[in-house]
Amino acid sequence: MCKKLSILLLGFLIAAGACTSTQTYSSIEKGAQFMPETLGLVPGASAAELNFTWYADAGSGDVSQLRLFNEQGKLVKTVNGTANPASEGKVSHKVSVSGLNPHARYRYSVSNNGSDWSYDYNFRTAKQDSFSFACVGDPQLTLGEQDKTSNLFSADKTTAQGWKDTIVQIAKAGVDFIAGVGDQVDITAKGNENEYRNFFAPDELKTIPFAPAVGNHDRHYPFGYHFNLPNEQKFEPIVNAANKNDLETGTAEAAGNYWYLYNNTLFVVLNTSAYPDSAAAAEPYIDRFDTTLNAATAANRGKYTWLFVQHHKSTASIAQHIADEDIQYYVEAGFEKLMDKYNVDFVLAGHDHVYARSYAMRDGKPVNTDRDTIANPGAAIYLTVTTASGLKYYNIFDTEGIYVKNNTAYPYLVNGLTGSASYLQGNMPLSNSVGIQNKKPEYTVIQVSGKSVSFKTYDIDSGNPIDSFTVTK
Ligand SMILES: [Fe+2]
Ligand SMILES: [Fe+2]
Repeated sequence: MCKKLSILLLGFLIAAGACTSTQTYSSIEKGAQFMPETLGLVPGASAAELNFTWYADAGSGDVSQLRLFNEQGKLVKTVNGTANPASEGKVSHKVSVSGLNPHARYRYSVSNNGSDWSYDYNFRTAKQDSFSFACVGDPQLTLGEQDKTSNLFSADKTTAQGWKDTIVQIAKAGVDFIAGVGDQVDITAKGNENEYRNFFAPDELKTIPFAPAVGNHDRHYPFGYHFNLPNEQKFEPIVNAANKNDLETGTAEAAGNYWYLYNNTLFVVLNTSAYPDSAAAAEPYIDRFDTTLNAATAANRGKYTWLFVQHHKSTASIAQHIADEDIQYYVEAGFEKLMDKYNVDFVLAGHDHVYARSYAMRDGKPVNTDRDTIANPGAAIYLTVTTASGLKYYNIFDTEGIYVKNNTAYPYLVNGLTGSASYLQGNMPLSNSVGIQNKKPEYTVIQVSGKSVSFKTYDIDSGNPIDSFTVTK
């Protein structure tokens, strides 16, 4: 090669290198500082994907762009998404990023006009070996309501602060993501964004993906504006007397049935926020769950060892929602039979603001009553988690507080009887293995290591778990 050509080629290579090597977070043009009002992540449709959502004022930009950087801050790509009008004069920006490497760390920045960019935040993708996640329930963020019944909080501590404190503990535990079981916000008025601002306030939620379930308090359009869900199944809304013939409520009740695969574990999220007023009225919802479970398991056949369901209204509760008829109708229409049909290993739920763990259950009965280490149960364990923020706590055997005092048919009790009255005499549901009401915010850390899953539930102020158990297969 002649000397002249070599110099030319060298010059070209330097120039080509300069084109990409200068594209780092520190050197790239960022315009003015963009501050999204809320910003959150949800696990993606596969391990190679991740979903992002943020809010900004209408009129401040109508594009959705995300710059993806590798761990060293080098620009990998810029991804475009959608921007749609949301409530209170806001725009909901959504981007789905694909082509991510497994077990990798990335940084990202977002923009709603393509010229002004946010700070950069970190996230990491699914590990190919063991992983852990946190389960939280009913943060139910309000506009600042105090936690009046807590054993822990001072009188002036708000649920917003309680939620932040819990998320800090969860981040310290080093979990890979958070699985929610509903009632993310209290939504005292539909479209009230202050509650969502409180929900997304912890900065850790810009780094740790959060997979939400729709709770009865989340039955509004803002849920869909704030969460970019993977593999969401589309269903027609049911609008009837039970939801006051309200299209927004019916639409929200039809949303939020979705799934995601994380390493060797399949998560199917179901929407039990509706209030069916008979077993027949519950059947269309059970059909939705069947459709979603069928789609999720068919798409991932042979890919998962463990199957988790996340949903809101626990069918294994032990406190004031114990005899609720809507939950009874879900069970009578076949909710727990579906868990058996699809060989679900764990059902995570909330709604009763109390901690409860069931035995391994099949066909409505305990099939394994081991407590600490449960080997090859071949049946579902139902876990009910309490509030993660400290909004309110429901008591066990609460004669005054129980919502339905006169139900003779439900729940099914350990003494062989059914109904509110026998429960209030001190008889737990036959499913119940552990029940705790500490009146403190709690969170559960779940470690999945191949064919072993261990659960540890913590009080926010305690280093020791209040309940722990391991399941193997
Ligand atoms: Fe709740
Ligand atoms: Fe609830």
